[in-house]
Amino acid sequence: MTNPDSDAPVSAYEKPPADGGATDPRCVPQNLDGPPPVGDEITPPVYDEESQENWRFLFQRQMSMLPGRAGEAYLEGVETLGMGPREIPHLKDLSRRMEDAAGWRIARIPGLLHERDFFGLLSDRVFPSTDYIRRKDELDYTPAPDCFHDMFGHMPMLTEPAFADFYHLFGQSALHAEGVDRQSLERLHWFTVEFGLIRQDEGERIFGAGILSSKDEVQHALSDQVEKVPFSVDAVIAQDYDVWHLQPTLFVLDSFEQLETDFRAWAGDRGLLPDGA
Ligand SMILES: [Fe+2]
Repeated sequence: MTNPDSDAPVSAYEKPPADGGATDPRCVPQNLDGPPPVGDEITPPVYDEESQENWRFLFQRQMSMLPGRAGEAYLEGVETLGMGPREIPHLKDLSRRMEDAAGWRIARIPGLLHERDFFGLLSDRVFPSTDYIRRKDELDYTPAPDCFHDMFGHMPMLTEPAFADFYHLFGQSALHAEGVDRQSLERLHWFTVEFGLIRQDEGERIFGAGILSSKDEVQHALSDQVEKVPFSVDAVIAQDYDVWHLQPTLFVLDSFEQLETDFRAWAGDRGLLPDGA
């Protein structure tokens, strides 16, 4: 890991806070010196009791709010990965289960990454994750990446095959995108990976990691205060967003196959897909 490179773009995918964030080292984008450890190469940390307590509290609080709110694929993903309240899972165990489910593996990374490292890992079907958890005084909100958001929020969906294929295509497309395509990709990421909804027979359900790992967003997302718009790539890339407030507009997929198919068509039209993708 080197000092942040001030010429490199700051990742827009895990945003640090606007005020004072630069003083928190966890919010400073990092460059990777070389390939981070992946899967079985990852040495699990020894967590102290406060870290384990924080995981237990967050896991139980979020899970108690998810019945009737979280999507079926997400809840099945939690089971597939064997996550529970008892202790913070080890990344190498999650990586093995994720690889069996849909071919993704996990890399341990030190914190916020610059975009080129983030996209480079996604384009190899590797999900970058931290392995440290927020402090006790940050249980309701933390500006920094942490393993509760990375593991509990993101990983279950990477066991869903069509979503997993979409995210791989996303990484491949983002790696070389320029100009207006970069903003389009940022919005697509925000309104799917982080804040996506999907229609099920019983009604709208949540699959976005930014909602599922947040106490406030999970209670807000399906309420009448949110305008819910049928997903289309064109509608999403025309929609601006504000990371500092509860989201007033969200997009609803019909299926994860729709996401993968529509994204592939759009990225192909924009010339963003690598040969053979
Ligand atoms: Fe995230």
